[in-house]
Formats: sequence, structure tokens, C-alpha cells
Amino acid sequence: MSTVHHQLECIGCHAHYLSTTISSWSCANCHDLLEVTYDFNDLRESVDVSAWKSRPPSVWKYEQLLPIDEASAKITLGEGGTTLHKTSRLAEVLGIKSLNVKNEGENPTGSFKDRGMTVGVSRAVEVGSRKVICASTGNTSASLAAYAAKAGLECVVIIPEGKIAFGKQVQAMVHGAQVIHVEGYFDDALREVLALARSTRGLYLLNSVNPYRIEGQKTLAYEIWDQLNGNIPEVVIVPVGNAGNISAIWKGFQDLNEIGLISNPPRMIGIQAQGSSPITQAFKAGQSEIIPVQHPETIATAIKIGSPASWKKALKAVKDSHGIMESVTDNEILEAQRLLARLEGVFVEPASASSIAGLKKLKNVGLVGPDERVTCVVTGHGLKDAEIVFRTFEKPTPVKPTELQRLLT
Ligand code: F0G
Repeated sequence: MSTVHHQLECIGCHAHYLSTTISSWSCANCHDLLEVTYDFNDLRESVDVSAWKSRPPSVWKYEQLLPIDEASAKITLGEGGTTLHKTSRLAEVLGIKSLNVKNEGENPTGSFKDRGMTVGVSRAVEVGSRKVICASTGNTSASLAAYAAKAGLECVVIIPEGKIAFGKQVQAMVHGAQVIHVEGYFDDALREVLALARSTRGLYLLNSVNPYRIEGQKTLAYEIWDQLNGNIPEVVIVPVGNAGNISAIWKGFQDLNEIGLISNPPRMIGIQAQGSSPITQAFKAGQSEIIPVQHPETIATAIKIGSPASWKKALKAVKDSHGIMESVTDNEILEAQRLLARLEGVFVEPASASSIAGLKKLKNVGLVGPDERVTCVVTGHGLKDAEIVFRTFEKPTPVKPTELQRLLT
């Protein structure tokens, strides 16, 4: 390996680790999560922002701020560069002057996970792993299976039986992952996978507790900065499940702040589904720790999580940015999914629509103002969970071709 331009730091006790000496995701002293840190004194001088402008959008165009050695192979499927839609019809209905929607469903496997996986799987290759693993509510497994296939790695995905959308299962299968269904919830699957990865040499964990994945996902913030020519929004709203993504996006905005490209980072607003909302409950009760939800419930299976692994990072992101955690009902989620599809032509899966549902709710109670410039992140493509739409719509009754004229005139 040539220059090591990053370190790992514990978010609890702030112990530092060299990236060359630690392959874990948690602190050896206090077992809290690790995050990647850089020397911003160096980076402030060396980051070539003008090169960002001249290169096409992608996660890897920000590689000076990514923790993969320059000489290492990058395992890429063309992730990032997703559209930031100016959604004026939706904005009008919601009573917001300026609303953009960042459509992460446009990533190669149809979700934001690809931003993290391109960096995480590149890291797995860099450290010489041959086998990767994750627990998943669906999208992580679909993404990991694809990137592992590209890298020629063995891949195992553990999913909670009967609790993930069909399209996502199919993705993991087609890319050749070993798909294991376990009884119970995602939280049970993740607990076992963490223990297994800790005790098995050479098995590389790619859940969002992996700090390298977070680095890839933080590029979403850089892209928003790029796409809005530096005029970043005042509010960014993100669906929250295991709580990696909101932490990652906040980290991206903090980087921009450190480099001196922005001075007012946005308020981060996290939205959970009401039946699976331990972080929102802790936030609203003013508690500094979450109480896990034992039996999480929601039709938004991607965020059906009772004990989010990155809750501490997420709470900090929300508090440090003067943001909010809120929850929305399944009906509010489904209504938001339809609004976005019908007003803007963007089809997202239910979990993704929670950011739109959250905006509607917070606008109505005055916690987001009509004049605030808002960006909602929508996280995964609607076709991944087509069944939920089909189930909730009236089914068409076939008619004779000769009846068409009568029906349509
Ligand atoms: N939206 C979608 C579509 C997701 O798949 C997920 C998480 C989230 C939002 C929440 O992101 O966990 O970083 O807070 N899906 C994970 C999975 C848990 O296994 O695919 P988060």
C-alpha cells in the first residue's frame, strides 16, 4: 500500500487506529463504531474542486476524499450521478417554495447502497478478503451480491424470512450470492452476522456499520453541492432504518464544511416508519439512548428495523445539525409514494417515500417552513417492491376489444 491518507476513530472513546492495522468496524477498547477520519489541513490544500466540475458525475470522481488507496482496484458498476429532480408540481401541492428530490433508485442495483458498496467492496479486495457477508432487509443484499460478482468474491447474504420484497431477493439470487433465510427480524439476523464476522477470519462484513461503506454513501452530499452549484439546501430529509445513510450524508456535509466549500450545513431530518421508530422515540423524549422496538412493524420492509446499529451516529447528526427525527404511518408512506409517482414521474419503493411523507407532516405542523429550500432523498426504485402497489390498487377487469370505443368516448 502506498500513502495512508486516512485513519479510523472510535465515535465513543475517540481512540485512533491506523487503517493498516485494524480490519474491524468497532473499537477494540469500548466496542463503539468506528469512522474514517482525514487530515483536513492537508486536504484543504490538495482537493482539486475544479476537477470535480470537469468530470462526469460518479462516486469515484471524489476519490481524493475516499479512503481507498490510489493504486488499488476500484470495483465499480457506475454508481452515483443520480438525478436531483426539481419537483415543482409536488412542491406546489405540499406548499413548499423550493423542493428537490434526489433519486437514488437510479443507481446500478436500484438503491443508494451502491454508493457504499463500491467503496466497501473495493476495500474488501484491498485487504485481500475472498468472502463477503451482510444481513439485510433486501437492498444491501442486492447491492453486495452485484459488487461481489463484479469483484469475483464469494458472497453470503442473510435475510429475515418472509420480510423482504421479492425483487430484492431475486437480485441477490441472480448475482450468485448464497442466500440464507433466517427466522425472526433483521435485527436478529444482523446480531448473528456481526458475531460471525467477528469470529471468522477472512469473512468481510459489509453492513453499514462498516465505515468504508459510509464513506461511499457520503458522496450523496457532495453531489447535491455539485448539482446545486454550491447553493445547498437548508433542509435534507432522509428515510432512516439502520441509520447508516443519514450519518453518511451528514458526514459528507461536514467534509464540505471542513474543506471550506460550505459554511451553513443543512438541517438533517430523519424519518422512520411509525411501527419501527426507536430513534424518533428517543429524540422526541429527549433521551440520549434508544430503546429497541422488539417487534418492528411497517409495510416499508426496507426500514423495518427495531434496533438500528448506527443510532448513535444518527442522533448526533440530527442534533449537531439542529434537525429533527419524525415518524410516519404506513398510509402516509403509501400516499407519498403515489404523489411522487403521479406528480413527478418518479417511482420509489415505500421506505423511500417516507422522506416525502415526513416533509408533508412537518410542513403541516410548521416544523419545516414554506420558504425553506428542501431536498428529499428517495432511496430505492419502486419496481423492487411492485407487489405493494399491486396489492393496494384496484385490479383491472378485462373487456372485449370492441368495447374500447364505448369505454373511452
Ligand atoms: N431506504 C431503503 C430503500 C433502504 O433499503 C434502507 C435500508 C433505508 C432506506 C434506510 O437506510 O439503514 O442506512 O438508515 N436498507 C438496509 C438493507 C437496512 O438491508 O437493505 P439506513
